[in-house]
This record gives sequence, structure tokens and C-alpha cells, in this order.
Amino acid sequence: MAEPLDPQTAGEIRKRSRTFFEAELDRYRDVSPPSIQDDAQTRRLLRSLPAPSGSKLVDIGCGTGIVASHLKRLFPQAAVCGLDISPKVIARARELDRTGSIEFVLATESELPFRDSVFASAVCRFSLHHYPDLPAHFREVRRVLKRKGIYLIVEVLPEAGRFQTMLNDVFAAAERESAGHVAYYSLEDFMDLLAPAKLKLRSVRPIPLQLKIGKYLSHCREIRKTPASFQKRISFEEGDDWFSVRLPAAGLFAEAE
Ligand SMILES: C[S@@+](CC[C@H](N)C(=O)[O-])C[C@H]1O[C@@H](n2cnc3c(N)ncnc32)[C@H](O)[C@@H]1O
Repeated sequence: MAEPLDPQTAGEIRKRSRTFFEAELDRYRDVSPPSIQDDAQTRRLLRSLPAPSGSKLVDIGCGTGIVASHLKRLFPQAAVCGLDISPKVIARARELDRTGSIEFVLATESELPFRDSVFASAVCRFSLHHYPDLPAHFREVRRVLKRKGIYLIVEVLPEAGRFQTMLNDVFAAAERESAGHVAYYSLEDFMDLLAPAKLKLRSVRPIPLQLKIGKYLSHCREIRKTPASFQKRISFEEGDDWFSVRLPAAGLFAEAE
């Protein structure tokens, strides 16, 4: 699971992610499962980041720039940059930037267009499960971070075992076709991936999410054109909200060695 995908599959996954988020752009701010974008939780995590005066911070897979704008408000003394794979998403992020001071750049996860050792902190919220080449991504993050800089990853974090397998076989597999999901990683997977890049996991802060299955599925049907294979496996009536699952997620703080 932690192996990079072959270049052709990686290219297809990136294209699907781009197409998916561009198609959803107009409803983007409320398009994720509702509890996923809990900004109070996110801000609590962001406050712990190193961001001294004059430093630079980057939001990777920034979407319309929600996290980047939190960073700018929390740390007005720092320069904030957002990066995303889609030109249309980047254009929308620029339009929505009320501070007018965030720099948004177009790039993929595995080739960060920055010089070495420039950032005090980097953040990636709910974007990493789209990345086809995590070893290259972490190498790049380490390269652009200053020593002792922090990479904060906010992600779904299943325990290794049956739940992770279910999540990857059902959810990630279905969303791979539509939205370019690759996989959800356990803590062990993250440690295996971060270590070779000389990123050391310092702390993990759980942020449990409630995913309402009925709402999620009608949302899938409405805009994600969920593949028939997925719909056959789970059949609920649209709008059924009697069943929700606790989706384990966390903020992982990794330090550049
Ligand atoms: C679920 S959205 C999260 C957006 C934002 N981080 C937030 O929390 O609101 C995922 C974002 O990652 C971007 N993305 C997907 N694959 C990417 C890749 N390989 N490289 C860079 N960005 C990517 C998408 O275009 C999308 O904007």
C-alpha cells in the first residue's frame, strides 16, 4: 500500500482527482462529508505549528484555500503559500483569498516548486489519500522544510487490520474510480513512509469524525456518480441517516530531522 503506483496509473489518478475537484468547484466548500471540514478542530491543530515572524508556511493540496486562510489569520507575521494540482481550483482559491496576500501555486504532490529548506511548517488536510507517490512526496516535503520544521498531516487514520482493509477495499476502491482516492494509511504505514524521508513522527492528535452513511451515499449518488459496484455492496435509501460511523482521523505532526 505504501509503494508508489506505476507512472501511468499515477498519472491517471492525478487526472481523476483534478477532474473530480474541478467538477465540484461551485459547491466545494460544503462538498466533503460535513464533519470532515471541522475548522475549529483544524485551527486547534494549526496553532501548534512553528511559524516565527518572517517564516514561510505551505498548505499542500490546498483546494480553495481554507487551511491557507486559517494559517494567514493565525500567523499574520508569516508568508503563506497554497499548492494544488488543479489550475481551476487554484484560480478559485485566489478569488476567495480575502487577505489578498496568499500565494497559490500549481504543482503535484511529488514535485514541489520550491527551493530547499524554505518552510517552517507545511500542512496537508484531507488531500494525502489522493497522492499516488507518497515516498516522493515525503522526500519533497523534507527537502523544502527547514530542519526541525513540522509537517502536519490531517487524515483519516484507521487502525491497521480489518477496519483499514474494509475502508480501503470499499471506500477508497469506490472513490478511486470517481475521485482519485489511493488509500487510507494506518499509523504504522505512516511511520514506514516518513522514516526514509527523515521525517520523524512527534505526536498524533486524534480528531474523530462522524460520517453519516445515508447522507454520504446520497451525496455520492448526486455528485460523485458512484460506481455501480459500490452501490451493489451497500444499499441504503437516500437520505437515511440512522446509521453513522465513527471515522478515526488525526493530526500527525512530523518533524524534519
Ligand atoms: C478533499 S480536498 C482538500 C482541500 C483542502 N486541503 C481542505 O482541507 O479544504 C483535496 C485537494 O487535494 C488536491 N489534490 C489531489 N491530488 C493532488 C496531488 N496529487 N497533488 C496536489 N494536490 C492534489 C485536489 O485538487 C483538492 O483540491
